[in-house]
Amino acid sequence: MNDTKPLKTLLVGCGNMGRHLGKKVYENPNYNLVAVYDVIPENAKEFAEKTGVKVYTDYDEALKKEKPEVVVIATPNSVHAQNTIQAALSGVKGIYCEKPIAVNMAEAKEMARVCRDNQVKLIIGHQRRMSDKYRKMKELIDNGAIGEIKLFRGSCAGDFVSDGTHTVDSILYLNGDVDAEWVSGHVIYERPGTMLYPGKEFTGERYGMNVESGAMALIQFKNGVRAEIFTGTLSLKTEHMSIPFSMLYQNIEAIGTKGRLWIPGDRNNPNLLIMDEQAGGWRAVEYKEYDVWEVVFTEFAATVREGRYHPMCIENAMRGFEIVMAVYESARLRDRLYMPLKQDKYPMDIILEENRILKREW
Ligand SMILES: NC(=O)c1ccc[n+]([C@@H]2O[C@H](COP(=O)([O-])OP(=O)(O)OC[C@H]3O[C@@H](n4cnc5c(N)ncnc54)[C@H](O)[C@@H]3O)[C@@H](O)[C@H]2O)c1
Repeated sequence: MNDTKPLKTLLVGCGNMGRHLGKKVYENPNYNLVAVYDVIPENAKEFAEKTGVKVYTDYDEALKKEKPEVVVIATPNSVHAQNTIQAALSGVKGIYCEKPIAVNMAEAKEMARVCRDNQVKLIIGHQRRMSDKYRKMKELIDNGAIGEIKLFRGSCAGDFVSDGTHTVDSILYLNGDVDAEWVSGHVIYERPGTMLYPGKEFTGERYGMNVESGAMALIQFKNGVRAEIFTGTLSLKTEHMSIPFSMLYQNIEAIGTKGRLWIPGDRNNPNLLIMDEQAGGWRAVEYKEYDVWEVVFTEFAATVREGRYHPMCIENAMRGFEIVMAVYESARLRDRLYMPLKQDKYPMDIILEENRILKREW
């Protein structure tokens, strides 16, 4: 399949992320976005009017009538597995599915298996590893700019499974996609209804999954590097820094024997800093800015057409998803967890079922 004819594409889920991805695919000449499927057609109305694509409320009908070569899935986490497996069995060649892969290891493994058995290229929405500043940070690490890496520190707003997955993936990328040896995790759970910060109420639920309000994790990688990650209410919060939420989201620091590299948030200026043996403390690193989504989808077209390696491939995402699930399992067992993870269920569900959450006085 070496021709460059635009790939016939179906968008699945037209909420916040779906509309964003739909626009990026619509604008990319490698794709021909023909339709969108959403259980709530009103969500797709404005997008369909702007782009002229058809709207379906029945997935089976959309797949059968349109026969897409690619589907882009941006539905809640709880339906990623069924949306992916149905598309893979319908004969598509490539699937972009949003992160996290699924709601538990059993579903994630099944998605990977069905796609492998049907020669479907599956990538997962960890776009950060393909972005300008993360690629620059990795280039500097690989060139020895801060010596031998000893530790990564990351913090992120939100819950560990939906947002921490980005932090875990970014660190995996920067550390060369090395397997973890063990993880140690801890979760805290505020009373649902608690205001996490002005305007943001903790509900205990996100994208169809039970979630905690705060988590922390230690990850020991097989190359000797350690990572420390803090999310949600345990993360570095905007009120500590008096900057807008959107500027922070994910904060990543690499600590080496000869210096440090730091991405202090998503939209800070400067956005990548270095401290090394040169005098003067932290200084900004220059890098060439680009639209990450253009790179993600252009490279994915080459993956679908020619089988080329994609950095967001399911194999890389599975390594991170196993770590994310292991962090919850470690919190459940209250012990360090040596990989591989043997728990196929979502440990947070079991933590809640077993009433293992410390509820203080409530
Ligand atoms: N990669 C990223 O940086 C990033 C950023 C935000 C969200 N996400 C991920 O994107 C996904 C969607 O998030 P969102 O914020 O757009 O959510 P959303 O609630 O805004 O949108 C979800 C859409 O899916 C539709 N939907 C629900 N169930 C469906 C089904 N069974 N079939 C078809 N459509 C269905 C809903 O009607 C809605 O329009 C989540 O998995 C989230 O983790 C990724």
